[in-house]
Amino acid sequence: MIKGFLFDLDGVIVDTAVFHFQAWRRIAQKLGGDFSKAQNEQLKGVSRVDSLTKILEWTGTTVTEEEFKALMELKNEWYLELVTRLSDKDGLPGAVDFLHHAKARGIAIALGSASKNAVLILDKMNLLPLFDTIIDGNNVVNGKPHPEVFLKGAEALGLSPAECIVFEDSIAGVQAAKSGGMSCVGIGTPEVLGGADLYFNALGETSPEELLRAL
Ligand code: BG6
Ligand code: MG
Repeated sequence: MIKGFLFDLDGVIVDTAVFHFQAWRRIAQKLGGDFSKAQNEQLKGVSRVDSLTKILEWTGTTVTEEEFKALMELKNEWYLELVTRLSDKDGLPGAVDFLHHAKARGIAIALGSASKNAVLILDKMNLLPLFDTIIDGNNVVNGKPHPEVFLKGAEALGLSPAECIVFEDSIAGVQAAKSGGMSCVGIGTPEVLGGADLYFNALGETSPEELLRAL
């Protein structure tokens, strides 16, 4: 029986996936390259270090350890400039209502995000009180597609993986959920995400009740 929901943040609750894309593109362009929206699907859900590693590969760039660190800091600076515009009005369609409904129904709620900025963003959105536990990029050794972030989330809720549904908009995140033994709702299309149990374009297209019946 499902007792817990584990939410990815960027691209599931709030429209920050587009800010990550814009900031990483600026980095790629600074390196004299670029990458496509299709390539960006490979960056979604992926840690800052792993994302930069891929971009360096794509742009055929070699950097020193110091330059690598400086590029990660610059990307985060550019990303945070975009994030300052966020407010509690910027939830993705239906996401905030969905969280409130789940909470009212007594479902345990965790965050399972690769981002080191997750608490800052949830705070800006006034959503921190809805989460029973937060596992983010500061609490894991292995990034998605490794299941660590979701396994830690389930454990912190006192639940087994089979008692949890993960909500994910990334290929890496869907893989993490499935290899962790959780049900997975993909926010996006089966063509892009593959591997999830159900798909919706946004949380507003479904409800906790519908998912508890279906999964
Ligand atoms: C994930 C995003 O949620 O967090 C990735 O999908 C991002 O695009 C990753 O790279 C790490 O985020 P941050 O905020 O720590 O750079
Ligand atoms: Mg995401």
